[in-house]
Amino acid sequence: AFEQRVFSGVQPTGNLHLGNYLGAIKRFAELQHDYPCLYCVVDLHAITQPPSVWGGPEGLAANTREVAAAYLAAGIDPKTQIIFNQSQVPQHAELAWLFNCVARMGWLNRMTQFKEKAGKDKENASVGLFAYPTLMAADILLYRATHVPVGDDQKQHLELTRDIAQKFNNDFAGSIARNGFEDAYFPLPEPLITGPATRVMSLRDGSKKMSKSDPSDYSRIVLTDDADTIAKKIRKAKTDPEPLPSEAEGLAGRAEAENLVGLFAAMSDRSRDDVLKEYGGSAFSVFKPALAELTVEKIAPIADEMRRLTADPGTVDAILSDGAEKAAVIAEKVMAEVGAIVGF
Ligand code: ADP
Ligand code: NA
Repeated sequence: AFEQRVFSGVQPTGNLHLGNYLGAIKRFAELQHDYPCLYCVVDLHAITQPPSVWGGPEGLAANTREVAAAYLAAGIDPKTQIIFNQSQVPQHAELAWLFNCVARMGWLNRMTQFKEKAGKDKENASVGLFAYPTLMAADILLYRATHVPVGDDQKQHLELTRDIAQKFNNDFAGSIARNGFEDAYFPLPEPLITGPATRVMSLRDGSKKMSKSDPSDYSRIVLTDDADTIAKKIRKAKTDPEPLPSEAEGLAGRAEAENLVGLFAAMSDRSRDDVLKEYGGSAFSVFKPALAELTVEKIAPIADEMRRLTADPGTVDAILSDGAEKAAVIAEKVMAEVGAIVGF
């Protein structure tokens, strides 16, 4: 049996949005009460895209602090959990190389995120963007993490992580046993994709997920939006003309309603059905102001705390270096064991 441990990460690519918060960061904070957790700012992932996406050398540090500040503002306790920056622990890249040699080209060729992010010009995508999932597997398995809270979009990458762990365990089974480990060296980590907001959609287009890179500012609520901006974005959110369905009618075929009800549910810690009990039959002109008010109530304190923290970069940097030291203790031990298993 593996010791239970949580790992997850967010890329420092700016524009942190409500999907990142409800699908990931809010869950991170909740899980700290049940597991020891490592929460990483994954800058090595960010640089798989062009420098303009992550702010270039002048902007990366600020984007990194922004994600760390969001973790802290969401209530993750840096004294009891590990908050750190990926590039400060070089073993992530080292284990990723090993996993590049474990994973198969065919496995990576099936990854839909690469196809979406590379777009039509695949020849011009970075090799790093293609290998992104092997680095993600390394992030998780470097700490032999057993649980990974993520949004729905990361499900396929988690399956690949399990495949890599399994293949490593099989390929090196004899050596793993000779080195004194029972059965397997790596756990097969489980995704934790739960709650009413695992896939928050764009406010402008119910068929696209809310994303940092959408060209329309009205497609997403970013964590640092002020109250007026939040209200305006929700007021302008695309919806159909029907009132909200009753609990019995349900949300099937009502993509935009489903998205907004999911947001309301996630922010009020209720189920979608429970929200429909209250608002079923109401017009969007009634529901949207209630949603806006709730969003401001939940997001404004986080935004304020993020602003306070990012105005004090020294404190955030100190938390990140302290976290990197704690992460490195685990990472060094695991890489020493992995090295012995592989025969380095
Ligand atoms: P993005 O996908 O916005 O560029 P990241 O890749 O850094 O952000 O993802 C950070 C976390 O946020 C991941 O766990 C991801 O699954 C989650 N996430 C991203 N977008 C959404 C969304 N629209 N709804 C729910 N969760 C999301
Ligand atoms: Na993502």
